[in-house]
Amino acid sequence: MTVAAEVRELGIGDLPRCLALARDRDWAAETRAWLLLLEIGRVYGIEDPDGSLAATVSVVEYGPALAAVGALLVARRHAGRGVGTALVRSAVDRTTAATVWLTATPAGAPLYRAAGFRPVGGYVRYSGTPEVPGRPASRTADVGDLPALVRLDATALGASRPAVLANLFSVATVARVVDGPDGPLGYGMSWRGARSHVLGPVVAVDERVAATLVADLARDVGGPLRIDLPASGPALVTWAERHGLTAGPATAEMVLGADPPGARRWVRTFATGALG
Ligand SMILES: CC(C)(COP(=O)(O)OP(=O)(O)OC[C@H]1O[C@@H](n2cnc3c(N)ncnc32)[C@H](O)[C@@H]1OP(=O)(O)O)[C@@H](O)C(=O)NCCC(=O)NCCS
Repeated sequence: MTVAAEVRELGIGDLPRCLALARDRDWAAETRAWLLLLEIGRVYGIEDPDGSLAATVSVVEYGPALAAVGALLVARRHAGRGVGTALVRSAVDRTTAATVWLTATPAGAPLYRAAGFRPVGGYVRYSGTPEVPGRPASRTADVGDLPALVRLDATALGASRPAVLANLFSVATVARVVDGPDGPLGYGMSWRGARSHVLGPVVAVDERVAATLVADLARDVGGPLRIDLPASGPALVTWAERHGLTAGPATAEMVLGADPPGARRWVRTFATGALG
């Protein structure tokens, strides 16, 4: 296979091959996350002559201001031949958004840097089974809250993503809101991942609200979970450490083009690294 091999858009029917490629790179086979990308975003792939996928990358457009790139995977047998580099460039060519946002593993970061991305922050993955005594200070969200949550989310992201939130809400095992006088001050969701519950997204106007949401979500989950926390959020990191969560892999937050729009610091944790 050459780097010039054709990149084509994948569909829902390609889900099993996407999961197989993820497993090839020791990534958890996150069915829910891939389905979201295939349904709401665009996933591009390169075919391997043996019928499997040689590589993937995703692009999710949130209007003219923002797009997210992710799911960059190259099968081990095709690694180190420029395929990943070519796919990053092809993903960038497929969006005209003012800011292209992504989270990069240490393996992916050099490719993104070479394509012009610059670091703007970083996340660390925390995982474990926290004991969270006490009573919730947030309330359960219901479907009627969605328009207000979409508005808060749009203020944070600088771009509206009603389809992503509606989809996440429909699969969330827990969704919680902290109310303020003029609407929600924060919301958070948790969903069932391949290996544990995933906490995210959590969007909140300040860290106190964020910590309330994370604690309440974790209490409702009541079992193993993971959450990616930004280095810029010391209160949440302290919460995670106090509750016995273990720090795991770090990812860099990178952008191409304009600085992230909206009030990005309100995004206390993303939905997935490929969605923002
Ligand atoms: C990260 C990943 C996508 C890289 O894919 P890849 O196809 O092996 O990457 P490339 O071949 O384009 O680049 C890797 C290296 O090969 C070099 N290279 C070799 N031949 C090349 C060619 N013909 N053209 C360009 N670069 C080439 C690159 O310069 C690069 O060098 P570096 O290691 O000094 O940076 C792949 O390792 C992977 O899937 N990893 C697991 C999942 C992951 O972490 N994904 C990133 C998410 S952010």
